[in-house]
Amino acid sequence: MSLVYEPAEDSYLLESVIKRYCKNKAVLDMCTGTGILAKSALDNGAKSVTAVDINKSALDSIKETKIKKIRSSLFQKVKGKFDLIICNPPYLPKDQNEDKESELATTGGDDGDEFILKFLDNVKKHMEKEGVILLLVSSLTPMDKINKKLEKERLVSKVIASITMFFEKLEVLEIKQ
Ligand SMILES: C[S@@+](CC[C@H](N)C(=O)[O-])C[C@H]1O[C@@H](n2cnc3c(N)ncnc32)[C@H](O)[C@@H]1O
Repeated sequence: MSLVYEPAEDSYLLESVIKRYCKNKAVLDMCTGTGILAKSALDNGAKSVTAVDINKSALDSIKETKIKKIRSSLFQKVKGKFDLIICNPPYLPKDQNEDKESELATTGGDDGDEFILKFLDNVKKHMEKEGVILLLVSSLTPMDKINKKLEKERLVSKVIASITMFFEKLEVLEIKQ
């Protein structure tokens, strides 16, 4: 069984910005965990909110019935397009000392960028033309391949929020077509 990710600085940084993007929007919260960001989108006027996670315990912990829950690995079982796609992904490089139970929520692959690269492979299919992605990245996430992938997909990104902690810097990227 995997642990449900307890909201932390990354969750709160994203939460602080999604408020201004979600009014009357169809929102997808990819990697929802406890649903903190899905709930915030709902509370701030989203037209609809869909929450996706691979971890059944995470989805079971969300009691808000207005949130549509989908158990899926990334976009595998997701249909349709969204105005706003929020994602606080597993973004850290593999750490041999990491607890197996928390790895699912934190480890983005051996280098840390693999999960985000897979997310970017399919995200455009689920984005409305004027849609926006809000993606959390860390200074510990290698950005070279991610930036190349964004360019290849003709997606434009800018940093809209950041927080520096003693061991890493977290950033929210706003990504548009
Ligand atoms: C860093 S946590 C973020 C949780 C929550 N959104 C927040 O901000 O507190 C990452 C989440 O991604 C989920 N996850 C990991 N691999 C996944 C996959 N392949 N597809 C969907 N969700 C996945 C984990 O179960 C975990 O809930």
